[in-house]
Amino acid sequence: STQKEIIMSTETEKKLGTLLKTTQESGSSNASTSAFSDQQDRTATLGLKRPESTSKLLDSLEKESFNVALKERQEKLKGTESVKALQAFREKLPAFRMKEGFLNSVSENQVLVVSGETGCGKTTQLPQFILEEEIASLRGADCNIICTQPRRISAISVASRISAERGESIGESVGYQIRLESKRSDQTRLLFCTTGVLLRRLIEDPNLTNVSHLLVDEIHERGMNEDFLLIILRDLLPRRPDLRLILMSATINADMFSTYFGNAPTIHILGFTFPVAELFLEDVLEKSRYSIKSSDSGNYQGSSKGRRRDSESKKDDLTTVFEDVDINFHYKSYSSATRRSLEAWSGAQIDLDLVEATIEHICRREGDGAILVFLTGWDEISKLLEKMNGNILLGDSSKFLILPLHGSMPTVNQREIFDRPPPNKRKIVLATNIAESSITIDDVVYVVDCGKAKETSYDALNKVACLLPSWISKASAHQRRGRAGRVQAGVCYRLYPKVIYDAFPQYQLPEIIRTPLQELCLHIKSLQVGSIGSFLAKALQPPDALAVENAIELLKTIGALDEMEGLTPLGRHLCTLPVDPNIGKMLLIGTIFQCVNPALTIAAALAYRSPFVLPLSRKEEADDAKRSFAGDSCSDHIALLKAYEGYRDAKRCGNEKDFCWQNFLSPVTLRMMEDMRNQFLDLLSDIGFVDKSRPNAYNQYSNDMEMITAVLCAGLYPNVVQCKRRGKRTAFYTKELGKVDIHPGSVNARVNIFELPYLVYSEKVKTTSVYIRDSTNISDYALLMFGGNLIPSKTGEGIEMLGGYLHFSASKNVLELIQRFRGEVDKLLNRK
Ligand code: CDP
Ligand code: MG
Repeated sequence: STQKEIIMSTETEKKLGTLLKTTQESGSSNASTSAFSDQQDRTATLGLKRPESTSKLLDSLEKESFNVALKERQEKLKGTESVKALQAFREKLPAFRMKEGFLNSVSENQVLVVSGETGCGKTTQLPQFILEEEIASLRGADCNIICTQPRRISAISVASRISAERGESIGESVGYQIRLESKRSDQTRLLFCTTGVLLRRLIEDPNLTNVSHLLVDEIHERGMNEDFLLIILRDLLPRRPDLRLILMSATINADMFSTYFGNAPTIHILGFTFPVAELFLEDVLEKSRYSIKSSDSGNYQGSSKGRRRDSESKKDDLTTVFEDVDINFHYKSYSSATRRSLEAWSGAQIDLDLVEATIEHICRREGDGAILVFLTGWDEISKLLEKMNGNILLGDSSKFLILPLHGSMPTVNQREIFDRPPPNKRKIVLATNIAESSITIDDVVYVVDCGKAKETSYDALNKVACLLPSWISKASAHQRRGRAGRVQAGVCYRLYPKVIYDAFPQYQLPEIIRTPLQELCLHIKSLQVGSIGSFLAKALQPPDALAVENAIELLKTIGALDEMEGLTPLGRHLCTLPVDPNIGKMLLIGTIFQCVNPALTIAAALAYRSPFVLPLSRKEEADDAKRSFAGDSCSDHIALLKAYEGYRDAKRCGNEKDFCWQNFLSPVTLRMMEDMRNQFLDLLSDIGFVDKSRPNAYNQYSNDMEMITAVLCAGLYPNVVQCKRRGKRTAFYTKELGKVDIHPGSVNARVNIFELPYLVYSEKVKTTSVYIRDSTNISDYALLMFGGNLIPSKTGEGIEMLGGYLHFSASKNVLELIQRFRGEVDKLLNRK
């Protein structure tokens, strides 16, 4: 029998070898093109189909040898140099000391809550402990661990980190899957995915068949997806008694999650951090004054290349720096803030001059160590980058490594962020609150905290999303400070006064109660878990009833739900498209009206972001470039479309780089849009709306602007504003909200508003006032025909009634088209 075992195990070895090869192949095709180069990868990306579990492919005898082979391989890898080196690092992490206790609790309890300071090793170690243990106990074939991450970037970075710690390439036993790409294979036993990907999988696989362990990470952030997932999981656990659920959170509010899961046991990982001094604005300013005085000694040793030293002014460099910042101004606002209220300060922009000066101060006056700067968003990060690159001291690339870090950054040079910089080079990371807890940079010694984060909120009464930088919570402030004390004692510079800090709320509000809920509600319907209202009532903190009502009403208006809140055929199709329901509807209508290419492009831009960049210094030129794409269409959406088409043509000739540069476009965003278009096309083909082998059949009208704007109208309805005269004022009005403004960045911002009777828009946001961002001028007949539920399909009354009107005001072309496609639209609305 030993003989037989050996034979079996070599055969399994071979099988394992083949599996390994598959990974490498799919890995390399991934790198060169998008994620859809082969069937296996594509289905993985959609998150709808499960890869066949390896264990199913093997009979029980083979499975045994497979388990043995996995174990042998794991043992073998442990001996390699790179693994040994990282093992030493791993053993120093606080999580390592808890390994035994953790694994015991996992085997004894169905639900476990683990909390610990950020950086203690929860994300990289805990799932890995389970994986190692399962393989070592010869259960490798049947083990299938999933760990969710709120953000794409952390799913990738963690998966690659663990692969390195195990001495493997990414996509072997550890992989990841995010909306647009995946690296996984049949032998993947630990998969990192975004919470969104897991939620999609739950539609098809409500019992999470074959999943042995599920870890939900960063639950303390209270993201909408995570809160949503927890409701589903609480209902699922009794049906899957063998499933193990591990909730991972930073140190705050772990008890709340334990209570939610029937007092599940909690493990707390005691961390070690060094003390971090805390300076508030008043102290920072004190410190800077001190610097000016003490700078008389002139011990600054920085680069003197090109620096106007002494010749023009006898002033010391530092004095110049802090005069630029205008300390008086800050003192004034500080003292008035103490007199006035917190609100008076809330509107204030982050003062990038002060941020820059603080960074300079640290570089000149403080010891070595990386600086981590918390800003609110991409705008500020890029503004500050630009500023710092123009700064003679900081722009010195031989001395400073300045790195942006932002959640939706498509390509990050991962290692640069985590690795120690070369000697004599200081690392400065400009980040959003992503660096608060999901990404840990070890060597940070200085944190510069602006005290704000961009937060969405939802005004249910006015049905408008608000996106404003607002003060962070005390919990966030604590997290930010903690980032500075990981390798030695650190300093946290808070660029706001202590009185402001004292007024911070303890925790941030959960996202589920500050976001519009239509996508969530549609998702709930597709899970078939009963009524939306009663499902959401089970949440950790249920959303406002009015917000739920608004979402349901919108879904009814666009025809995704019927009067009884049941999913219509349209609603069912929308569930398969992982985008906002309005964008999904635009895609479906676009296929029917044979302009699928423009619909894909516009949907990709709306679902991701606009490819237009706004360079600060050349704003006028950038606006002109955008307007020239729009032509006389009065449409930001057409501008997006034309810009993309120009990029695609330029790419064919190989000069897309120049094209993007000349037209103020982001090549990175455009590439991402390309990937998204492919993914949307795959989804549309999966549900039978397009036949990819006959692209022309779906693009007969792709150059017909009238048709495209009509499709936009059909998709974006009821997002319509009307140009109206009220009293003396003529302005744009919505049904609910009254007056709105066109965003200054829109191509319609300078058009005479009388030429814009109706605009459809993709997003309306309340910042300083209510703005509609991207908008398109539509004709009133397009609105009549395509608004709401499209043409009344049963009686056809609508089209007859409008016929006469249309003959006068619409081009014949469109009328004919509408009549021709009526059958198709009926089918969409009735197709089961
Ligand atoms: O999840 P938690 O915040 O508890 O910690 P973690 O993400 O598991 O990180 C543990 C350690 O691994 C940190 O000290 C990180 O610096 C390091 N790490 C890394 O070097 N590279 C990564 N991609 C992720 C983590
Ligand atoms: Mg973590």
